[in-house]
Order: sequence, then structure tokens, then C-alpha cells
Amino acid sequence: DSPTIRIDDPATEEALMDAADLLCQGKCVAFPTETVYGLGADATSTVGVKSIFAAKQRPLDNPLIVHVSSLKQLRGILAPTNSTSATNGHMTVTNTEGNEGEIPEVYNALISRFWPGSLTILLPLPTTNSPLSSSVSAGQPKFAARLPSHPIAQALCHISSLPLAAPSANASGNPSPTCAAHVYTDLQNRIPLIIDGGPCSVGLESTVVDGLRDPPVVLRPGGVSVEAIRELGGIWATTVVSAASHEDSSSIIPEAPGMKYKHYSPRASVVLYEFGARTPCWKDLARSNILSAQNFNAKVGILRTRTWKAGIGVAMLDSLRQESGDHGLGKGGLEIGRGLFAALRDLDDAGVVVIHVEGIEEVQEGLAVMNRLRKAASVVVRKVG
Ligand code: TXA
Ligand code: MG
Repeated sequence: DSPTIRIDDPATEEALMDAADLLCQGKCVAFPTETVYGLGADATSTVGVKSIFAAKQRPLDNPLIVHVSSLKQLRGILAPTNSTSATNGHMTVTNTEGNEGEIPEVYNALISRFWPGSLTILLPLPTTNSPLSSSVSAGQPKFAARLPSHPIAQALCHISSLPLAAPSANASGNPSPTCAAHVYTDLQNRIPLIIDGGPCSVGLESTVVDGLRDPPVVLRPGGVSVEAIRELGGIWATTVVSAASHEDSSSIIPEAPGMKYKHYSPRASVVLYEFGARTPCWKDLARSNILSAQNFNAKVGILRTRTWKAGIGVAMLDSLRQESGDHGLGKGGLEIGRGLFAALRDLDDAGVVVIHVEGIEEVQEGLAVMNRLRKAASVVVRKVG
């Protein structure tokens, strides 16, 4: 049930103690998870939770994920101890509304396969005596929870004995941070502490799943692929992906409220070339778009994935090549996901005004990659018909 947490580095241990102190005082701290860096606060403290929204300048109607270090800690949220229900010292008490303080059984398969890890599940919000600050769920009927695999994230929940509400630790709208320097850039004067745990291994946020619906719905594609969820069989075989996660428009009514906001956006405009049968033609189109940018003296960024070659579009233009950022993200879905947000930030730092991105197939890790890119894109070049 409770994973063993080992932190061997004394500096990290000291940072964890400092962080736990700050959390207990209702302050927020940034910490690494395997997906992206999170900005955490005590999920039971409204002062703490509000400090997250303030630091990120996050819209108040966008709920936060609650991070725990064990299933026991999660059950403690579902069955809050109070005078009417906690009579026997067990976690499986029945509260006054008749809800068991247990994680709904439907999640058993999902939890044993993907936790700890980059999967977030929606759970019923306790209707009475909820220990969570109401700001965490921002008016939604369910709350989101995740047991991260990163030892520092686990240790922080464990040492502080607190469930931690934590969104990604970027300024709202920016690409999510995948290393401590990204957090520093966005939030340097707004938060008291960043724990540096090196670069994140997944690089994209967790998959958000509502298994309390039939069929289950993926509200946000992420680190765990939809294919991997469907492989569990049973009810999970029929898992659907919410339409909201495909849209790049903000006009739709989102099921995961965060999906309606412009997201993951570098300052540069992003032009996304969808993968498809005509991809080779896109290469020519991208090349001519890149070349024409010189007419405006514009610095151009290029994010290559599977077929575009280094130097695409700049072969004839040495001066442009010098000034432009040309990033190869790698060909594998995992590599592309891991490097994506850092590449967008690097190109911004290089001062490019437009980034041309070679899209990938929307399968496996590609679904989450393309979801983030669509939200970042000003223009999507797609095949019609
Ligand atoms: O990997 C991750 O999930 C990272 C790390 C730090 O754990 N966190 C993260 O949090 O990406 P955030 O706030 O940037 O994204 C959370 C997403 C948003 O789209 C939000 O709307 C959705 O989860 N969400 C959170 N609580 C929800 C709820 N109660 N009902 C529906 N959607 C919810
Ligand atoms: Mg976020």
C-alpha cells in the first residue's frame, strides 16, 4: 500500500523539511513529479490553495489535482474523521450520506496497473465534512487525485502528512515546466521555494480519467496512453476520449475545465503541420513558409519529429540558420513528449517569432503530444477531405 520512499541526498532532504514547514504554514512550494513540476499547497487549507491560484494567476474555476503518497492517505480524504463517523479507527467508515470511505472499486484495475504514475482519477467529493478546501475542486462535483511516482513528490506528501493540491508550476497559459529553471523563470518572485529534482522523465502532464461514468472518459490525454488503459479490458476496454480534448477552440463547454483555456503557449506563434498522407507536401509547404519569413527579417523556430531533416528550409540561408532554432525532438513518442515543453521554451528564449512544428500520429503518446500542440497552435495545417 504505502511505497517505500528513499531520499539519499542530504540537500534534498533539507529542502524537503523546509518545504514541509512552508506547506504547514499555508504556503505553496514547487516540486518535481515524473510528469511536470507541480506547485503544491496543503489541499485542506483554503489559504494554501488560494496562494497557488494567486501565484500562477490561474482562473479560479479551474480545479486542482490532489496528490497523495499512499492509498491510505487517499482513503483518509474519502472518509474524513469526524464525530459522527470515525468511531472504530478504520478507514472504511460510512459517513452520514451513506458513502463508503473507500476508493470506488471500478478503479482497482487502473490503480494497480498505473499507480504510482502519470494517471489522475476523478473521485466523489465527500458531501459532508470534506477535508478538502472547496477551492480545490472549484465547484466541480468530483475531485481529481493522483499518486505520483517521483520520490520527491511522494516524500513531500509523506513528510508533511498532507494531501497536496498541485497544478503544473508554470504561470497560467505558459508551457508546463519540466525542469526547475522553467519554474524559476515563471514564478521567481511569487513563491518561497522550488525543489530541484532535475528534468522530468515523462514531460507531459498526467492522463485525467473519469471512471465514474460508463463508458469511462479520458478528459485529458497524458502520460498514460488511452490504448494502455483499454488493454485493461472490462469497462476500461470501452474508454472514450472526451471531445473537449480534441478541440482547439475555447467555445466548447469543457468537461475538464482546464481544457477551455489557452494553454502551453510560447510567446512565438506556433504553426502545426498535422501528420497525414500528405506529410511530404507539408515539408515543402513548411520550407517555403520558413524561407518567406526572411522577408520580414523574422527569426524562425523549427521543431522536427519523424521525417523533417535538420536544416529544412534554411539550406540556402546561412544567416537565417544562425539566428533560428532548429530542434530535433527525436522520433519516438516518449522522446517527443519528454522534450516538447522545453523545446517551446528554448525557442522563445532564442527570440523566434514563429515555430513550425512537424506533427505526429495521434496514437499512443502522440495523442497527448498533439493535444498540447493544438492548444499551443495559432495555425493548424491540415489535410481537407
Ligand atoms: O501531471 C499532472 O497532472 C501535473 C502534475 C503536477 O501532477 N498537474 C497538472 O495539473 O497538470 P493542472 O492543474 O495543470 O491540470 C489539471 C487538469 C486540468 O485540466 C483540470 O481542469 C483537470 O485536471 N481537473 C482537475 N480537477 C478536476 C475535477 N474535479 N473535475 C474535472 N477536471 C479536473
Ligand atoms: Mg497546467
